Amino acid sequence: MSFEGKNILVVGGSSGIGLSLVKLLRDKYANIYVISRSQPVDLPARVFHIQADITDDLNSIAPFLPEHLHGLVYSAGSINLKPFGRLTENDFLHDYRLNVLGAVRIIQYSLKQLKNAAGASVVLISSVAAKTGMPYHASIAAAKGAVEGLALSLAAELAFQQIRVNVVAPSLTDTPMAQNLLSSPEKREASAKRHPLGKYGQPEDVSKAIAFLLSDESNWITGQVIGIDGGMGNLKTS
Ligand SMILES: NC(=O)c1ccc[n+]([C@@H]2O[C@H](COP(=O)([O-])OP(=O)(O)OC[C@H]3O[C@@H](n4cnc5c(N)ncnc54)[C@H](OP(=O)(O)O)[C@@H]3O)[C@@H](O)[C@H]2O)c1
Repeated sequence: MSFEGKNILVVGGSSGIGLSLVKLLRDKYANIYVISRSQPVDLPARVFHIQADITDDLNSIAPFLPEHLHGLVYSAGSINLKPFGRLTENDFLHDYRLNVLGAVRIIQYSLKQLKNAAGASVVLISSVAAKTGMPYHASIAAAKGAVEGLALSLAAELAFQQIRVNVVAPSLTDTPMAQNLLSSPEKREASAKRHPLGKYGQPEDVSKAIAFLLSDESNWITGQVIGIDGGMGNLKTS
């Protein structure tokens, strides 16, 4: 996979899956543009970064975006797990705003630059919980289900402009966002065992799939939701 000369925007590229992707693409000589709210400490050299909250006014990012955008990855999101009875309307609104409207806003904001690139690729991140019912996931599953619907609709609408839109749907992945779920050896062991392949994910498991979807190697793939989940979404092994 070659990314030399390609401009890729990664929203949420300062941590977890996004950061892993940034490192992978940087090794392949992509020009990378990262948006996150805080100043990252460990971005690789020669990565452009702007501090912005994707749910706020985006006007500050206008001068930051290159004229041609070959790839856009939306890796901001949440894991907000609570019993249904304790989920408030604000929980649902927060998860929808961050996971869905954040993606909507940055794609709308970058549409001209994506069109300019003639053959751009957009990748959104859902969750295994959007299609596999899991307790305590009502809010995040609702938001991620909307992410998948958004992606499919956009894939259809933008296909004639050669803009591809795909989704990866990870299961539990060892990132700062998932630390509460992996905070003890017992939790790690139980989480690993729940997956047919006997392990939870590493950020690289997901970022490698995203890199493929950004690359020319996947140029006939659009409108797909790809589970990166150790078999969790589709398999029943016990
Ligand atoms: N980890 C998992 O187990 C798992 C499982 C399924 C799906 N996912 C999904 O995978 C995606 C990546 O998650 P991750 O685990 O890599 O999370 P992470 O390590 O917490 O990284 C999230 C990134 O998004 C940025 N971000 C968060 N809110 C933002 C905002 N309002 N504006 C701009 N940037 C924002 C964060 O930086 P700042 O905080 O500095 O803004 C950070 O760079 C998310 O969509 C998540 O829902 C994760």
